[in-house]
Amino acid sequence: MPLSDQQLQDLETDGFIILPDLFSQAEIEAIRGRLPRLFAEDSEANVIERHSGEVRTAMGLHLRDDLFADLVRHPRLVEPALQVLNEPVYVQQVKVNVKAAFSGEVWQWHTDFATHHKDDGVRLPLALNLHILLDEVTEFNGPLYFLPGSHRAEEHPARLDDETTSYPLWVTDLDRVRDMANRCGMVSATGKPGTVLIFHDTLLHGSPNNMSPWDRAIFSLIVNPVSNAYTAPTRPDHKHHRDLTPVEPLADDCLERYGTPSVAISA
Ligand code: SIN
Ligand code: MN
Repeated sequence: MPLSDQQLQDLETDGFIILPDLFSQAEIEAIRGRLPRLFAEDSEANVIERHSGEVRTAMGLHLRDDLFADLVRHPRLVEPALQVLNEPVYVQQVKVNVKAAFSGEVWQWHTDFATHHKDDGVRLPLALNLHILLDEVTEFNGPLYFLPGSHRAEEHPARLDDETTSYPLWVTDLDRVRDMANRCGMVSATGKPGTVLIFHDTLLHGSPNNMSPWDRAIFSLIVNPVSNAYTAPTRPDHKHHRDLTPVEPLADDCLERYGTPSVAISA
């Protein structure tokens, strides 16, 4: 289903949209069913939290699992992106950010473009970040915070932070964040499993530690126009994929063949 004029307008004005109920509970169960095996793999594409030893983010998932190979071509993600960008896109990054109960750590204030530009040589802030909430995300378990409209401001000053967490990130200067927050306000992106978030490359965002007893897993697909691909990538493939094959959406029922994982019933 294409985005409505109002949704396109909101994405343009606020830099993000939140689309509830885009994926069914059966589809979410099927996605979640793939995670234990992937998290258990000894892979450099699994980034571990600095303090707890839990998986922080599991990356390159479409190259590690057949369901995720289909999910990155799911029409409910890809068609809105093609509608907004109106040109062929490639799969730039695919991950599940985990944020485990009690221990999931902060994602500092940042724009995705700062890292895409400085580490990968992407020229323009055209990439779109497409999220699916895999757990219920509430005010308590580390939701993303967005500064609405911040994507339209001039470039946000950034510095590379490779100390705060196990994931090096170009983070936004906090004086700039204060100024933008006072101008834009703040929204926390909460919702039920199956909710989709779409946001722009220059939107200021971050998320706090998860000190709640509830996990918070989010699937993230970043797509970027082929015409705007990396020019000087410094990061490994799982952080910015080199394959520039344009993404062709699959059929809407493409996850159906994976079924819902059976639940063990104890006697
Ligand atoms: C998060 O998982 O909370 C951060 C995601 C992002 O920066 O895109
Ligand atoms: Mn981000």
